[in-house]
Amino acid sequence: MKTALIVYWSQTGNTEKVAQAIKQGFEEAGLNVAIKKPAEAASVDYFDYDLVCVGSPSISWHPAKPMDDFLKSKLAVYRKQGSIKPSAPKVAGKNALIFVTYSGPHTGINEATPVGKDMRQYFEHIGFTVIDEWYILSEFHGSLENSTKGRMGDIREKPTKEDLQKIKEDAKRIASLL
Ligand SMILES: Cc1cc2nc3c(=O)[nH]c(=O)nc-3n(C[C@H](O)[C@H](O)[C@H](O)COP(=O)(O)O)c2cc1C
Repeated sequence: MKTALIVYWSQTGNTEKVAQAIKQGFEEAGLNVAIKKPAEAASVDYFDYDLVCVGSPSISWHPAKPMDDFLKSKLAVYRKQGSIKPSAPKVAGKNALIFVTYSGPHTGINEATPVGKDMRQYFEHIGFTVIDEWYILSEFHGSLENSTKGRMGDIREKPTKEDLQKIKEDAKRIASLL
């Protein structure tokens, strides 16, 4: 049975909804799935899984601090173990998926792509193949202005049920590639 690890951080629930939809999709595709918050994932070894997924909201166009701290501390462990090699050779069968939720109130998706690009480096550096980066437009909870008057328009209620259903289907497709 192929295995997947999902590590996510979520303050207002958007990233959590996406993480749960991914989990459902993976499970329906027959993967064995572990899902954790950064605080619960300190001792995980990415190399124990066929697919590692990490998810964060965009916070001031950076990963959220708990996710950033987690990624950095894991990378320090792999650096010590000698897993970061010149030219970052691919390790067969080791895959990653990056997902970012964002509201894009000021400059749209440009507030999210730096987060995904940053997070993928933590996996490419240790030879994982990053299958995809997903950017999910999401309501800015606690700010009506940023949820209705921003660059992305009225984003209240996002991600919608339909958005989450699509994420689930996309997750199934990714699972079938492993
Ligand atoms: C303090 C703070 C800063 C944020 N900064 C950004 C930002 O720079 N760009 C952006 O697109 N969204 C920003 N957002 C919106 C969140 O990224 C977005 O609503 C996300 O889906 C929240 O995820 P969560 O519900 O999992 O916590 C910010 C939200 C908060 C609370």
